[in-house]
Amino acid sequence: MKVKGKVVLVTGGGSGIGRELVLNLLSKGAKVIAVDINLPALQETLALSGTSDANLGLFAVDITDSAAVGELVGNAIEKNGYVDAIINNAGIIQPFVDLKDLDYKTIKRVIDVNLYGTLFVTKAFLPHLLNRAEGHIVNVSSMGGFLPVPGQTVYGATKAAVKLLTEGLHSELQHTNVHVTVVFPGAVATNITANSGVTMNMSMAQKSNQVSAESKVLTPAKAAEIIVRGIENNDYQVYVGSDSRFLGIFNRISPKTAASFINKQMKKYGITSQ
Ligand SMILES: NC(=O)c1ccc[n+]([C@@H]2O[C@H](COP(=O)([O-])OP(=O)(O)OC[C@H]3O[C@@H](n4cnc5c(N)ncnc54)[C@H](O)[C@@H]3O)[C@@H](O)[C@H]2O)c1
Repeated sequence: MKVKGKVVLVTGGGSGIGRELVLNLLSKGAKVIAVDINLPALQETLALSGTSDANLGLFAVDITDSAAVGELVGNAIEKNGYVDAIINNAGIIQPFVDLKDLDYKTIKRVIDVNLYGTLFVTKAFLPHLLNRAEGHIVNVSSMGGFLPVPGQTVYGATKAAVKLLTEGLHSELQHTNVHVTVVFPGAVATNITANSGVTMNMSMAQKSNQVSAESKVLTPAKAAEIIVRGIENNDYQVYVGSDSRFLGIFNRISPKTAASFINKQMKKYGITSQ
């Protein structure tokens, strides 16, 4: 879908990749509905955009609240008369601990945000999108959605679920006006750790920074550019970053060796557990 002149809803628009998606879409002539649980962060996105709230609507909504998401549909449509595309980008990681040490409250929150949040927004907007001349659903999974990252097992499980949810939806909507794209970002330099309420001790944080430096982590602006290009090309899958592209191929050729490679990398840097 060409984004110029379209109305695109972006969840997680208050930070990181979501904020840059908002700015990129506005720069290409789209109108944007930015959704986030964090209203001050959304207001910061608006200030950074240099545009008016006529082009950028802000909605403070927790996507895990299905009733609030239901209300969002009417409010978002009222803003511009319609919505052409949704980008389910909001997400959180889990603390860097093994499954045996992860409590159910944390597990539930990660599943609620990453899987149910995506599901609620998708199902709520789908009937409207099916009535547009052209619609698009974009779901942000992760490199961790096709490759196991120790210490992020539940996060990975939610992102694998988002992958299959999106690919299943693509098959179901194949003969409709709604395009469907799944996105697999590799490492992107955002505040997702802090925003997810995850603390890292100093040495883990230093090691994580070292990994970031060595792997030439992508900026969120570059990630957004790649995602928007994928939307404009109606791509089925979008691999964001050379790490995601490389590991995607590696994983298809030899999944066990690829998993073992990641495991060794995590152990090398000692960021697998708190
Ligand atoms: N940063 C990376 O390295 C990376 C890698 C792979 C995948 N991803 C995925 O990309 C997406 C964006 O991540 P990011 O790195 O930009 O993170 P981020 O923390 O910078 O932004 C995520 C935004 O989502 C919002 N959010 C969280 N829970 C919410 C809820 N319940 N309702 C509404 N909004 C909520 C947060 O407030 C935040 O503004 C996520 O789905 C993440 O899993 C990120």
